[in-house]
Amino acid sequence: MAIDGPQTTCVKSDFYDLLHPSVALVTAREKEIHAVRRREWNRAFAAKALSCHENKISKYIDQLDLCIERDARQHFVSDLKNLLYWFGFDAMGDFVLSNLFDMLQNEEWHSILEKGLVEMRKWAEDQMKQRLEKYEDKLASPDVAQWLLKGVKADLVKEGTWAWLAGDSLLAIVGGSEPTASALIGLFCQLAKCPNHADKICGELRHLDICDPRVLAAQAHHLNACINEALRLYSALPSGGNRTTREMGITIGDNIFHQIRTSWRHATQYPDDYFERGQEFVSERWTSRPDMVRNKAAFAPFGTGSHTCLGRHLAADEMRLIVARILTKYQYKIVPGGDRVEVDLRDQFATKPGSLRVSFELRHDEINGSHDERFEGI
Ligand code: HEM
Repeated sequence: MAIDGPQTTCVKSDFYDLLHPSVALVTAREKEIHAVRRREWNRAFAAKALSCHENKISKYIDQLDLCIERDARQHFVSDLKNLLYWFGFDAMGDFVLSNLFDMLQNEEWHSILEKGLVEMRKWAEDQMKQRLEKYEDKLASPDVAQWLLKGVKADLVKEGTWAWLAGDSLLAIVGGSEPTASALIGLFCQLAKCPNHADKICGELRHLDICDPRVLAAQAHHLNACINEALRLYSALPSGGNRTTREMGITIGDNIFHQIRTSWRHATQYPDDYFERGQEFVSERWTSRPDMVRNKAAFAPFGTGSHTCLGRHLAADEMRLIVARILTKYQYKIVPGGDRVEVDLRDQFATKPGSLRVSFELRHDEINGSHDERFEGI
């Protein structure tokens, strides 16, 4: 809290200059500049804007489901890592720029996502320019770009404006899709290893509307506990989130610390000091065993203070809807050698898990044609 809480005097470290010469909300290191930019962003995450996005998400969940169903019927192995990343980027491209990556449909990575940061930054700026040409078109569901362009419309010729627009659109697309995908990959891997959790989730979903994120948030307790546990174990920014002290240092207890630079997320989300059996997936710590959380403040998957994640509700809804759809419709298991999630996991500011190859099987009532009526109309 002293380092990243609402009252902290620490600021983001120079690591956050990584997008230079572009700048983005998440990389803004001056508190005052960040606060102004965050107000622009807030409008894109207001309740009305988010409810428009829910309709878009369900379209991509359908596409994900179609890919899985086809694999299941043909007894193909599914590359769940690719499918979940494609879902994440398709949904975020639409949310941010009304731009379609169409990766689930084409079943391949979009070429820009295989390029380096410099090319991606240029691409993001071009996308914003094209988006500006269509700016006056009334969109049925406004995207993030619309809000950001509205905020700077009078300033488009000002120096620096395009650096913000390119940085922000890139941040939203990448920052919105990768952490959601990596937490889901971790979660599906854990659920395959402990099928009793998957069964318990299916049991509680039996009488719920699995297409309503509000119902899932309020009533699917075991699902939510498993999502929390995946967010804890597969932290979005394991060694990111660096903060640094300013001239006056920070006071923690009776001590004053000067010139420190910290990365605290990795240090707090796993250790036994804060979580009993902290290295293990124990979702009950979020339901019947609260004593297994020794320090609640150590769990902050979406960050804390004034930099907390703007997309946290959206991300949680996406995760609930996807897990609910897949678990109620399919059973799955990891194919031999198919779990590379942790062995190949890389910390590249965001967590990049290794691959997860699984075989899906339709549940009995789906095979027999007694299609679950909760999928009707999706
Ligand atoms: C499971 C999914 C997600 C996780 C775990 C996550 C986590 C985080 C974390 C830890 C931060 C703070 C970064 C820092 O201090 O450097 C952050 C910031 C941010 N996230 Fe997320 N995020 C997720 C999904 C999303 C989604 C779907 C969006 C939607 C576009 C989004 C948008 C943002 C934005 C705009 C910020 C910058 C906030 C600011 O600096 O004021 N995130 N996220």
